[in-house]
Amino acid sequence: MYLYREKDNINTNTRIRKKNVNDILTLKKKGEKIAVLTAYDYSTSLICDKAGIDILLVGDSAGMVMLGYESTMPVSIQEMLVFCKGVAMGTKRAMVVADMPFGSYQPNSGIAIKNAIRFIKVGCDAVKLEGGLELVDTIKALVSVGIPVMAHIGLKPQTSHLWEGYKVQGKTKDSSIKLIAEAKALEQAGAFSIVLEMVTTEVTKIISKDLSAAVIGIGSGCDCDGQVLVLHDMLGIYEDIRPRFVKRYAELSNSIFQAISRYRSDVKSRKFPEEQNIFHMNPNEYKELKSDPRKK
Ligand code: KIV
Repeated sequence: MYLYREKDNINTNTRIRKKNVNDILTLKKKGEKIAVLTAYDYSTSLICDKAGIDILLVGDSAGMVMLGYESTMPVSIQEMLVFCKGVAMGTKRAMVVADMPFGSYQPNSGIAIKNAIRFIKVGCDAVKLEGGLELVDTIKALVSVGIPVMAHIGLKPQTSHLWEGYKVQGKTKDSSIKLIAEAKALEQAGAFSIVLEMVTTEVTKIISKDLSAAVIGIGSGCDCDGQVLVLHDMLGIYEDIRPRFVKRYAELSNSIFQAISRYRSDVKSRKFPEEQNIFHMNPNEYKELKSDPRKK
């Protein structure tokens, strides 16, 4: 049982704390764009958090960029929990959203709640689910037990490769009407935020304007409430796929390669380690050691 203590009554405006649903919705209301990045481990989460990223999404893209899978479909809960733990440990200010992997929420609402709780217990603040109208009851159920939900429509990477591949969504009137209806239904079900992936900029604008939920775009243009990118794409670490919508802010793959090659060459040529990397014995102890017969 948690006992309320006098010193807990601190000013919540000044203490460092993680962003919650209300903070994210306030950013939308103020017209301040929401900066979202994926993260999968403690060390990079520390950096993202220090840089002021609003939401860290532990995307199931981890399956591709961290584990080398060809799609996000094979990712398991156990794998995601490890990534989520690391990110939660490195985050003091950003909201941490766990992407629920394929199979962990589709069977029924009870299974979705049970699995979502596992992510909340390791320190995540919300969960993300991919899908449209079929998820309305599941989202209602999750929100009813207090778990904030980010929805994800448009291109749905968990399953789209099984149907038509990675294609831009909302190019025709009919597909746009379907996307708009899905977004509204997901908001009504209780989603506080909706990711739109590779949706035409016109449809994104309509959805973002119509909804009070925070609309986060990836490859969906400028007219949404925030942007998300896969960290390894924008840092230039992941080279297997280069989507057109990604802006590269660094070419780390190249820098990492140069550094590792220099290290290898230093080891081979005995340039590493240097004096400053070495530990020495106390000189007197060493003298005694050299003359000690047990040394042999
Ligand atoms: O898994 C992921 O990284 C995502 C983002 C691309 C939105 O779902």
